[in-house]
Amino acid sequence: MKTLSVALTALLAVTALASPVAYTSTTSTTAAGGGAPTFTPLTPAEIKDLQTELLLAASYKDKEAVLFPPNNGGSANNVSFQFVNNPGTPPQDGSVIVGSVDSIPGLIGTNVAAAIGFIGPCGLNVPHLHPRANEFLTVVSGTLIGAFLLETDAQFAGDIPQVAMTLTNFTGMLFPQGHTHWQFNPTCEEAIFAAAFDDNDEGRFQVAQTFFSSMPDDVLTTSLGNPSFLGPTQLDQLRGLIPEAFVVMVDDCAKTCGLSTA
Ligand SMILES: *[C@@H]1O[C@H](CO)[C@@H](O)[C@H](O)[C@H]1NC(C)=O
Ligand SMILES: *[C@@H]1O[C@H](CO)[C@@H](O)[C@H](O)[C@H]1NC(C)=O
Repeated sequence: MKTLSVALTALLAVTALASPVAYTSTTSTTAAGGGAPTFTPLTPAEIKDLQTELLLAASYKDKEAVLFPPNNGGSANNVSFQFVNNPGTPPQDGSVIVGSVDSIPGLIGTNVAAAIGFIGPCGLNVPHLHPRANEFLTVVSGTLIGAFLLETDAQFAGDIPQVAMTLTNFTGMLFPQGHTHWQFNPTCEEAIFAAAFDDNDEGRFQVAQTFFSSMPDDVLTTSLGNPSFLGPTQLDQLRGLIPEAFVVMVDDCAKTCGLSTA
């Protein structure tokens, strides 16, 4: 803590030398010796404008002038983001809040995005993949099992190998770009994770949704080996069942924890 204060004071001193901009007084003063502004969410219109201006800014210097105009009170607001608006009351069900170029235009020109996830008891972050980014996910509270499927050149013969890890107590794991992966909370307590991506627009494909959206039906039944129990009717039934949500509860686990999945 001491080291941090010293570092912060040094940083503030350097900042003060580099620019005459003073911090506004709209903030609470901290023991670190000087207030800094608190985060104000951007409106959708402000996000669009900022995206456009940043994309038109050719050099890094130009981008900086857009992000931090003079007399902005020395605020880093355009490169900040609050993942959950009401700290203390995070979503209970299970949700993943992503800070990417859609929500943080200031990430334009960087290869960074981030996410905070709340995975409720028995919650499964359903098999998905990020087409444009590697992910490093760290569990900051509770327990998650993380797994991904390996890339294999071999002809399909049985299951593609999967690697998995129980993540708890600030343990994190890599989920490589484009690899199908999932995280499951096997406990009756909520789990919280923080994830980093090496692209500002990581994207997300949910595997079941994507696969079962392939048309026409023949494409699916043929690629599944023409099972006799799976015709157009059953396919439609399946399509109606596939959840859109990122996180859904696993039935068996929910029963053990005495939770209703309805
Ligand atoms: C964020 O960027 C916009 C566009 O340049 C600018 O108008 C606004 O003042 C900036 N906000 C801060 C706090 O710097
Ligand atoms: C996690 O940390 C808690 C508190 O220090 C400890 O009781 C628990 O054994 C740890 N769990 C694992 C799997 O390391």
